[in-house]
Amino acid sequence: MNVLSLFDGISCGMVALERAGIKVDNYYASEIEQDSIKISKKNYPWIIQLGDITNITKEMLDTIMPIDIVIGGSPCQDLSVYKYDRGEVTGLNGEKSGLFHHYVRILKYLNPKYFLLENVPMEKQWEDMISEILGVKPIMINSNLVCAADRKRLYWTNIQGIEQPIDKGIMIKDIILNSSDVADKYWYDKEFIYNGDEEKVQCTLIMKGHRHMKEVYNQKFKSSTLTTCNGGNLQKKVYQDGRCRKFTPLEYERLQTLPDGYTEGVCDTSRYSAIGNGWTVDVIAHILSYLK
Ligand SMILES: C[S@@+](CC[C@H](N)C(=O)[O-])C[C@H]1O[C@@H](n2cnc3c(N)ncnc32)[C@H](O)[C@@H]1O
Repeated sequence: MNVLSLFDGISCGMVALERAGIKVDNYYASEIEQDSIKISKKNYPWIIQLGDITNITKEMLDTIMPIDIVIGGSPCQDLSVYKYDRGEVTGLNGEKSGLFHHYVRILKYLNPKYFLLENVPMEKQWEDMISEILGVKPIMINSNLVCAADRKRLYWTNIQGIEQPIDKGIMIKDIILNSSDVADKYWYDKEFIYNGDEEKVQCTLIMKGHRHMKEVYNQKFKSSTLTTCNGGNLQKKVYQDGRCRKFTPLEYERLQTLPDGYTEGVCDTSRYSAIGNGWTVDVIAHILSYLK
């Protein structure tokens, strides 16, 4: 199969194709973030990087045809429902989320047998606009069916017959490291409020910042959605053996069902950011399994 992955990030699409047992002959990627490309190249040196989607011309597309499937998760920054309160939603007219129109431009030119587009839940007008342009309605899948983190995402595809994945019942406790294996730098020595043994947010760290920065999750539950904003104290946190700590990058990989160590080779901040931006591999593998 010949694959074109637009907004490829760290090539979670390729990991998913492998996991779904689909033979890939050529995988072309469009991505601009250098550390993401580095992670992709470390794992799949043979992937052909095409660069910035806005610079992909018809002449370039002619050289990679025929393509069997176009996949991609276009940037969501201008669509995210979290921006609504701030009145900042420019949607598909936004500078970043507007790159979706390049996905459509390329899809129409290549006319592959299959396509898959992923994005965040968004205001109805934008969802309807995408559905009308692509000619299919999206399926909503919450990644928490296959992993230990919530992640509701919309998937537009012409792959037929997709059902919801079976709930694997995975919780944080199933994927975290033993506390003795976690380096000192991931632990907090800040004071915290203990909320209770049965609370999803088991502790609240006492520090300045947004509520989400202070939430420390209970291992018996799932983490909230990983995001790409992972500087400072924005990484998701867990309570373990009487102390609060950040998830490690390896645990972030497990929360997105990536192979252990997949993002090694760049700094922690880039790893958290790229994983938070990425796909839940097992959800994509589930969708792609319907190709067979
Ligand atoms: C939502 S993320 C997709 C991540 C990817 N699905 C993965 O699994 O890693 C969107 C990606 O689009 C990339 N991007 C932004 N502008 C781009 C452009 N002009 N051309 C190509 N990629 C771009 C970002 O760097 C980011 O990695």
